[in-house]
Formats: sequence, structure tokens, C-alpha cells
Amino acid sequence: MTQADLRTRLEEARASGLHHIARAQDLASLEEAQVRALGRKAALSRARSDLRQVPPEDRKELGRLANEVHAELEAAIAAKRATFQAAFMEKRWERERIDVTLPGDAPPVASIHPLTKTISAFVDIFVGLGYKVAEGPEIELSRYIFDALNMPPAHPARSPEQTFFVGGRGVDVCLRTETSPVQVRTMESQQPPVYVVVPGRCYRRDTADATHVAGFAQIEGLAVDEGITMGDLKGTLELFARSFFGDELDIRLRPHFFPFTEPSAELDVQCFVCKGSGCRLCKHEGWIELLGCGMVDPALLEWVGYDTERYTGFAFGMGVERLAALSHRISDIRLLWGNDLRFLTQFRGSG
Ligand code: DAH
Repeated sequence: MTQADLRTRLEEARASGLHHIARAQDLASLEEAQVRALGRKAALSRARSDLRQVPPEDRKELGRLANEVHAELEAAIAAKRATFQAAFMEKRWERERIDVTLPGDAPPVASIHPLTKTISAFVDIFVGLGYKVAEGPEIELSRYIFDALNMPPAHPARSPEQTFFVGGRGVDVCLRTETSPVQVRTMESQQPPVYVVVPGRCYRRDTADATHVAGFAQIEGLAVDEGITMGDLKGTLELFARSFFGDELDIRLRPHFFPFTEPSAELDVQCFVCKGSGCRLCKHEGWIELLGCGMVDPALLEWVGYDTERYTGFAFGMGVERLAALSHRISDIRLLWGNDLRFLTQFRGSG
């Protein structure tokens, strides 16, 4: 094997390799061209292994030439591959192109449930007065919901006809029928002064109709401090009623009975539709009943160990559905629990 022979073979390997690479039409035929130009059986590889047979003094130069041919073929393959890949990507981009200027699909806009809005509006007013929000369990002990609230064993609310007992008759656990036990739980856990509002779900064995549902929401309020009087109760509720229904409206307290307040009252607000002259909403009474309230019965304060000589308090509680129904003129509170978007979407954005 002479030096000239090998040089010729290397040059031929270069020429034929470049030729095959140039002829490749796509990535697959380029792979084939690569095997032909650089594979183990390619002319270049064979010539390289024959390098051993040339005299050592020529080997270096021929070796360099072999490396150069190898590098050139590799570079040609890489360059060609890059153009195929670019063309492939271009086609793919064309195929998958997205017109970002098209209007998108608008996702449905959710809105806050009218009951949640009512609770928030109520809580906002009282937080503005310095009240805190307290919560309690929906599954409650008779001890808190009946005993502490002055309801003797024969009280009708303690019967399974009115209340959902958990575990059957005589068991001391039930779904709370009102948020009032949270008054006791809150007082038990802290010393006066206490100023809290308590939103939460309650449950009664009521057959659903336009003004009743078995699972509903209430909001409770409780203030206990030194020197609290019925005047404070009235002033606070007037502020609440006016912020909710209108600045000009009058309120009145009607005597009533609740086991846990003494004296007890119901609060009416002047009808915000007819301003007292009588209309359908107020059933021609001129007044709308809003809530129950009163001065906290000292028995509750004693139960939690407060000094009844020093502290007095007032409390109130109301149904959130009724409040929402009044402020949105909803005629049937079952709609509020119906989960019907045709109803719920009407309250988008409204306060
Ligand atoms: N818990 C009473 C009810 O469900 C409402 C109520 C009345 C709450 C008087 C009170 C209150 O805190 O003082 O009818």
C-alpha cells in the first residue's frame, strides 16, 4: 500500500461521502448517507484502518488527512440535518399555529352566594363597631344548646320532633337549632368585655316552605361589659337596621320571650318599601320583623362564672335567609338553597 494510493482513497471517500450527503432528501436518507460515509464499512473507515500499513514517516500526514475528511463529512451531515430539522419545525409551526388575536373562550364568571354576601355585609357593620367573629360547632351538646340556655328537659326544642338528635332519642348530642350556644362557648373561653358576632348553620326538623328550610343560617350577636343597658342594645340594632335597610327608617322593640334573655324583645324595622304606610311586603303593617334580642339572662353569666354584679350584656339573633330575602326581595327562601344558576346569577355584582 503506497502513500499515493491511500491519499487517493481518502479523497475518493471524501468525494463520494459528500455526494451521498448532498443527495439526501430527508432525515431518513441522510441517516443512510451517514452510514455510507462514516460507518464501519465506509471507504473512509477502511482507508483509516489501512493507515497501519503505510510507512510510519507518511502515516502522520495521511492520518491528519483522514481526520480532516472525517471532520468535513461530519460537518456536512450536521449542516444538512440542521436544514431538515429547521424545515420540519417550520412545517410543524405552520400546522400548529395559533392565532393569538382570536378572542378566547370566556370562562363562566362565578359570583358570591347571596347568603354569603348577606353575612359579609352584616359582619362588616359589626366589625366596624369593634366586634369580633366567633364560631362554634354545628353538632352541639345539649349542655350548651339547652341546659346553659335555660331550656328545661321538657322544653319543646328538646324533642326529636323539632330537633335532629345525633344517635337517637335521649342522646345528648344534636344538630344545633340556633347559634345561641356559641354565646355560652365564647363566654366560657374568655373574660369580659365580649363583643362578638356569630354566623353559622343551624338545623331544625321543619318542612320546607317559602319561609322555612331544615338547614339554614343564623347570625348571633353578643355584647357583655360593665354597664351595658337596653339603651345600648337599641342603639346598636338601630345602627344595624339603618345601615342595612335605609338611614331614615325607624325601629321598634316589641316585648317577647326567649329563655336566655330577660327582658326579651323582637326588633321591627319600618318597612323600607312603603316607609310605614303599608304595602304587600310588610303585609300592610308598616313594620317588618327582623330579629329576636334581649338582655342576657344573668343565669347565663353565672353559668360561665362571670360576676353578675359587675357585668351585664345584650344579645340578638336572626335568620340569614330572611335578611337576604328581605334585602333582595326574594319571595321564597328555598331558592337560596336550590343551587340553581338561573337564580344565583341574578346576584352577580349586587351587594
Ligand atoms: N336564637 C333565637 C332563635 O333562633 C334568636 C335569638 C333571640 C337570639 C334572642 C338571641 C337572642 O341571641 O337574644 O329564634
